[in-house]
Amino acid sequence: MSPTGAVITGWGSALPDHVVTNGDLEARLDTSDEWIVSRSGIHERRIGGTVSSLAIEAGGRALERAALAPDRVDLLVLATCTPDMAVPATSAAVHHALGLSGGAFDVNAACAGFVYALVAAHGAINAGAARRVLLIGADCVSRLTDPDDRATAVLFADGAGAVVLEANDEDGLLAVDLGVDGSAHDLLTCPHGGYMAMEGKEVFRRAVRTTVESATNALERAKLTPDDIAMFVPHQANLRIIEAVASRLGLPMERVAVVVDRMGNTSSASIPLALAEAADLGRLRPGDYVLTSGFGAGMAWASTVMRWTAEAPSVPVPPAAAKGAR
Ligand code: ACO
Repeated sequence: MSPTGAVITGWGSALPDHVVTNGDLEARLDTSDEWIVSRSGIHERRIGGTVSSLAIEAGGRALERAALAPDRVDLLVLATCTPDMAVPATSAAVHHALGLSGGAFDVNAACAGFVYALVAAHGAINAGAARRVLLIGADCVSRLTDPDDRATAVLFADGAGAVVLEANDEDGLLAVDLGVDGSAHDLLTCPHGGYMAMEGKEVFRRAVRTTVESATNALERAKLTPDDIAMFVPHQANLRIIEAVASRLGLPMERVAVVVDRMGNTSSASIPLALAEAADLGRLRPGDYVLTSGFGAGMAWASTVMRWTAEAPSVPVPPAAAKGAR
């Protein structure tokens, strides 16, 4: 049996209704809108829900966009580092609620999780184990964040994004770069029952350096340069990290998907949320090369270069969250 390619045929996202602005945080923490915006680029974030509820909503939307009946999906891969329970995998509940067929499993690679899950989903199709995969990145990072710790509470948030990956003669996944430096695993940790602790400055330095290296490796493997990339979809931890990476790669910000300003750091959800928004806005066209790159706790990283094949929506869908809309 020859390997099968795969392309993205649908996408969707879900955010909690509750908006927490920098002003809300100023009212109860020793922080300021000026500090948060200048250090992170975040203006507001969404807090609430559960990983399964957000994943079900985003996954359902991706299936609708792909015009795919749930029982035709033969694998669910859910990237999350904040599962509803330690056991069972949250993907089991999502699989049941959506009425999917076939198997399901969770992937935890923190903020690199969605890209790792994309590679796993593609591998399952490639190996003939599945033909239609629902791939979701969902996290409620607020559950791991001490609400009284200004160093983390202002950064992390909740949400979910999803894509449908279907077997195809053409292969949309052109190149992959995966890595982890476990010697630095203690820079960003959350013990069972505890809160997240992060050495922000060192994580920042590593995020910039590693994302540039990983994205460059993936581009070289795809035999492309940054000039060929129509849209760069990086992990959304901090606008300063995104701008530093884009500048070092030589990519203008017009070709970078950014949602961190309105959604904060949603870990495994951040890349599919940014990808879904770019697709909804008609910023992705068939034939476009898309670079994704995730970096986070572990410290783990993952980059891919994809060729986009789906048609843009005939009428652009307005962004789920618009700065200044409230
Ligand atoms: N409001 C006001 N002051 C604050 C706040 C706040 N919310 N938080 C920290 N400060 C203070 C600090 O106490 C420090 O004060 P001091 O100088 O008196 O000690 C000062 O501000 C500077 O703090 P730094 O940590 O040095 O600020 P920095 O410019 O590095 O920005 C930040 C901090 C935003 C956390 C940045 O380092 C960052 O984004 N790091 C990377 C995050 C990331 O990429 N995470 C990876 C993915 S997450 C995952 O995998 C789950």
